[in-house]
Amino acid sequence: MSTLAARAGPSARAALHPGAILPRPVTREPVTPMTPQPALALALLLAVAGPAAAGDPRAGRAKAVSCQACHGLDGLSKLPDAPNLAGQVEPYLVKALTEFRNGTRRNEVMSVAAQDLTDADIANLAAYYGGIQIDVLPPS
Ligand code: HEC
Repeated sequence: MSTLAARAGPSARAALHPGAILPRPVTREPVTPMTPQPALALALLLAVAGPAAAGDPRAGRAKAVSCQACHGLDGLSKLPDAPNLAGQVEPYLVKALTEFRNGTRRNEVMSVAAQDLTDADIANLAAYYGGIQIDVLPPS
């Protein structure tokens, strides 16, 4: 009265009862430190952003008059659905405004607000809003 598995031998038994397979040794990949990658990404981002990020904050402030109803001249949101811009990462501001202008990113309000901005306007606005000093405290 032998079972199929008993007659077929150990490998078939293992196949029929997968739980009986002994765990194989785990080979670990060598751990690579994470720090060089973000550093490289930042270097590439800065290299790509290049001269476009070198805006004039004074000219940006003058231009920001058309943004202040929603984002404030201080860069702090004046509407529940408008983001703060004060102290925002400058290349990010350039990217966001460029994408609203070219249609990659769409928003009812911002697509209109960005459509007539020149590259210089964008660089200047980013320099102004990105240059606003902010203090950050963790929640108490
Ligand atoms: C009538 C209100 C209004 C005006 C005027 C306006 N914005 Fe906005 N802005 C918004 C809203 C709302 C959003 C959020 C869009 C979204 O959800 O994608 C936004 C998003 C942005 C973002 C993206 C921020 C992020 O965190 O991704 C930037 C940058 C920005 N606005 C800059 C400007 C600048 C510069 C001007 C002036 C030239 C301007 N906005 C004018 C309402 C406004």
